[in-house]
Amino acid sequence: MEAILLVGGQGTRLRPLTISTPKPLLPAAGVPLLEHQVTRARDAGVTRIVFATSYRAEMFSEAFGDGARLGMEIVYVTEDEPLGTAGAIRNASAALTCDGDSPVLILNGDILSGHDISAQIAAHEKDKAAVTLHLTLVDDARRYGSVPTAPNGRVVDFVEKSPNPPTNQVNAGCYVFRRSVIEHIPAGRAVSAEYETFPELLAGGEVICGYVEAAYWLDVGTPATFVRGVCDLVLGAMPSPVVSPHEHGALLLDGASVAPTARVGGGTAVGRGAAIGAGARVESSVLFDRSVVEPGARVVRSVVGEGARVCSGAVLEDCVVGDGATVGPGNELLNGLRVWPNAELSATAVRFSPE
Ligand code: GTP
Repeated sequence: MEAILLVGGQGTRLRPLTISTPKPLLPAAGVPLLEHQVTRARDAGVTRIVFATSYRAEMFSEAFGDGARLGMEIVYVTEDEPLGTAGAIRNASAALTCDGDSPVLILNGDILSGHDISAQIAAHEKDKAAVTLHLTLVDDARRYGSVPTAPNGRVVDFVEKSPNPPTNQVNAGCYVFRRSVIEHIPAGRAVSAEYETFPELLAGGEVICGYVEAAYWLDVGTPATFVRGVCDLVLGAMPSPVVSPHEHGALLLDGASVAPTARVGGGTAVGRGAAIGAGARVESSVLFDRSVVEPGARVVRSVVGEGARVCSGAVLEDCVVGDGATVGPGNELLNGLRVWPNAELSATAVRFSPE
């Protein structure tokens, strides 16, 4: 079976991490983020996958080549201008080899989902649907596309990001399309699947079905959800074919070092060659390769970029430190603060609660 992976977005909500690296390629528990979904798709029977690239396209082929490393075939279709989600699907479909009746799996490159992809494909075939969407259940559907279904599973409406969503079933960003349906998406212009394609297919009387499964699911689009997703991979809450769960709560990649008196846990991933000094505490965080947390520093629910340094006694909570930046001694960064790549904060430049 073939699949299309949407990986052309700019990942603006995850800046500054996405300035140098596209969101789907950010390191997540030792591998690029998208590798978790790609290998899950492979294990569900996908043998060939078309990457729909745009932003920093060349980095994807550098990371994945022809796919042989993962035991599948990977090809690349690059948009000159971003075509939006459905425009990208239409554009990438030129590289598919299957016939018009075949199912094609479409994945967003920034989702972590433990749902049963094989069961979604089987439901699509059984219903002879044009499109079958994975729908997941969330507590607050206002930030998502709410998708009510009839008792027989047929989608009855698409309500994008509404203050009054009709249901807490939301579009989870994993679709099965009948290939011939993709050819109806207009070519050569930007098209949104959520705002245009799905509502139009529904209005045209096509069979659109919801596959509802409330397995682990996370849209890894913001720093907070990125950190949570990586920690869940490390702890095994999100099952991935390429990660073994770490009961002790931390994943240390090659060459990472942790001083004996440091405390590291909560699903923290410590990148290749990264170092954590004596007495430091690192909780539920992501340390990219070659980053340094000096003695006595505290890092909680934060990302420390590649080669970045958190100096002695500094505190980070819910923050992002860009690649190569330095947070000088004694700084206290809280509440979503983002330090740009290569910035240098001198000693106690930022202090929220001075003693
Ligand atoms: P934000 O800018 O933070 O909203 O992130 P994003 O650019 O990734 O957008 P969004 O999260 O809505 O995208 C969902 C998925 O579709 C991601 O995997 C994106 O890489 C992908 N995507 C979004 N827009 C495009 C596009 O124009 N072309 C392609 N090929 N993929 C896209």
